[in-house]
Amino acid sequence: MSSHKKLVISREAIATRVKELAARISRDYAGKNPLLVGILKGAFIFLADLARALDFPVEVDFVRLRSYGAGTTTSGEVHITKDVETPLEGRHVVVVEDIVDAGLTLNFLLGHLAGCNPASLKVCCLIDKTERRQVEVPLDYVGFTIAKGFLVGYGLDCGENCRTLPDIHEMVESGEGG
Ligand code: IMP
Ligand code: MG
Repeated sequence: MSSHKKLVISREAIATRVKELAARISRDYAGKNPLLVGILKGAFIFLADLARALDFPVEVDFVRLRSYGAGTTTSGEVHITKDVETPLEGRHVVVVEDIVDAGLTLNFLLGHLAGCNPASLKVCCLIDKTERRQVEVPLDYVGFTIAKGFLVGYGLDCGENCRTLPDIHEMVESGEGG
């Protein structure tokens, strides 16, 4: 079956929203020397734009997680394949994620990071995809909320394709009549 891409969030809308999120984070974390922890690979573009839109320079670090599951869903079994390298003890940590779906990935990561005794731990995600949520995860800063759909672009991939598209698109199966 073939699929086509439908534009859902334009680069202009993304840029506007990233600036708004950055303004809130700048206000909330002024003088706190926060550490941004991006989840690879999907968050790399969002984190790059967000970090540069803050009012102050920040340190960044990254984790890479692997969740085993079929196709476009996750199974809940999450493994860390690259951990943070910065000591988190006493730091104000903001996890930066591209999209939260079932919530299992983020739920696992927050548990792991909380074990490192940060001074605070919050989440900034670009997209909150609500319909398939399985565990409640606290999302402190949210760019966009959508119910469902598989999205690509602005860091989000489909089998490693489409990450570098400047806009966000939904992959729509052709011939499914809607
Ligand atoms: P979950 O919240 O545990 O289901 O996992 C979220 C992760 O699944 C995200 O970090 C993405 O890597 C991936 N993911 C979920 N929905 C999408 C999507 O629509 N497009 C691309 N990746 C997605
Ligand atoms: Mg991800």
